[in-house]
Amino acid sequence: MEQYVVKGGTPLKGEVSIGGAKNAALGILAAAIMTDETVTIENVPNVRDTKVLLQAIEGIGAKVKRVYNNSVQINGGSICDINVDYEYIKKIRASYYLLGALLGKYKESQVALPGGCNIGSRPIDQHIKGFKALGAEVDISYGMIHTKADKLVGSHIYFDVVSVGATINLMMAACMAEGNTILENAAKEPHIVDVANFLNAMGANIKGAGTDVIRIKGVSRLHGCTYSIIPDQIEAGTFMFAAAATHGDVIVKDVIPKHLESISAKLIEMGCTVIEGDDCVRVIGTDELKCTNVKTLPYPGFPTDMQPQISVVLAMSEGSSIVTESIFENRFKYVDEISRMGANVKVEGNTAYIEGVSRFTGAQLSAPDLRAGAALVIAALAADGISQIEDIEYIQRGYEDFEGKIRGLGGIIEKVDSDREIQKFKLKIG
Ligand code: UD1
Repeated sequence: MEQYVVKGGTPLKGEVSIGGAKNAALGILAAAIMTDETVTIENVPNVRDTKVLLQAIEGIGAKVKRVYNNSVQINGGSICDINVDYEYIKKIRASYYLLGALLGKYKESQVALPGGCNIGSRPIDQHIKGFKALGAEVDISYGMIHTKADKLVGSHIYFDVVSVGATINLMMAACMAEGNTILENAAKEPHIVDVANFLNAMGANIKGAGTDVIRIKGVSRLHGCTYSIIPDQIEAGTFMFAAAATHGDVIVKDVIPKHLESISAKLIEMGCTVIEGDDCVRVIGTDELKCTNVKTLPYPGFPTDMQPQISVVLAMSEGSSIVTESIFENRFKYVDEISRMGANVKVEGNTAYIEGVSRFTGAQLSAPDLRAGAALVIAALAADGISQIEDIEYIQRGYEDFEGKIRGLGGIIEKVDSDREIQKFKLKIG
């Protein structure tokens, strides 16, 4: 199995370019099947999650063509099946976006019901409540969720919790319903706005995305378009914290700085310098990283997908920090791993109490999930000595050429597949 081997202690320096947002791409690729015309989507991150979703889309009969590395053409005119297998959903939960997309277009969809995952139990009751409000019958049996409607009719839907997934699924279904829909207490993440902009580029009529009230006027058909996905807020934030952890100086390019404000604010509290450009942010680390407190919240709050990365850096910062995870219940699994590197962190319920230590040492580690895996790479880049990180397929779900981009900043990291390659790495770095 592939793993990363990392020699820590080198400050990251230079420029890194950020790819398209994975979480926007997942919504947009699913929404692309809603027209029978060809849609061209640019800036699609070439990561495991988008590859699996594209396979699921091909699996129902749509045509998918990679024009070049980060551009994809999708034609949903040849769809012959409204069933999405468990094979896809078990690899990537967001295959459930095909529920809303197929329901909107064909008034029927069937997708294997996603289970929990490594970060929590993740119910989808808000998606179901929304589909029902639009007039669909929703049935769960034999592990599948089946939606069907004679016709979808616009409705006033109040979400009980702020949910990215439910907001996207309902925007897709409602944009092809008859009449008007209002989504209240909607999620406001940048990728919600991106999916709405994409649907509008296909002819939908969605207003208010990015606020907590989204108004949708149903249309009877959508058409083809060319669309470029926004930069990935979380990939950018990961490199910003990697710069801080290694006391480096990194320009994170091709980003929307506004989307990074909650991340920049925390880095400044921790003593780093953050300089915003038009489409870049420069993070200059400090030798005296300071403690702070963090609570994860829906956008524009601090993202739960950045919680492991900031926690790892706080664990090597001076003083006591408190990190409260308010979105997912099981997002501190990496703490056991960094404890083996010398971190001093105690978890009670949804709170981590962190006593900063002055030094991490390299260790053999295992990535528990996508963002925690990225956080372990940050820890390894900052640690003394060599670390090995297993289960990197989680990291590959959301980061394109992670190791290549880190090497471009001077970090010492290799993807290896055998003990022989690990020995070779050790010999090479001396
Ligand atoms: C999305 C992101 C994920 C991110 C998360 C929160 C994608 C593909 N994934 O996940 O990376 O960590 O947003 O920013 O975009 N909930 C319910 N009922 C529901 C739906 C959600 O109770 O029907 C709860 C969840 O358990 C969680 C909270 O609402 O506690 C937020 O979940 P949600 O925003 O839906 O996350 P995802 O869309 O799954």
